Amino acid sequence: MMRVKVGTIEQLPKRLGKCVHIGVLELALFRTQDDRVYAVENRCPHKGGDLSQGIVSGEYVFCPLHDWKICLRDGQAQAPDEGCVKTYRATVEDGCVYVELQETGE
Ligand code: FES
Repeated sequence: MMRVKVGTIEQLPKRLGKCVHIGVLELALFRTQDDRVYAVENRCPHKGGDLSQGIVSGEYVFCPLHDWKICLRDGQAQAPDEGCVKTYRATVEDGCVYVELQETGE
């Protein structure tokens, strides 16, 4: 398992996504209103929309293209839509944000 520092918590405004590249991976980072941090693959399961541009509400992000609602915890699109985005464990330590490059869930 690889753990990668992707920035500081200050660089992550609440309820806004941030796109980060780690090698060939493109991830969307999110910080919720209550300060939890999530990392998901930055590609909507519908047609590949840029999730980092989506609107965050609670533990969900709404895709900017067609408004699918994706759970940041497990990556599942919410019914009636179907599909799943890869999720990665994100942690905050001493104000720095780290992502573990091993998929969670499934
Ligand atoms: S590409 Fe995300 S909802 Fe269509």
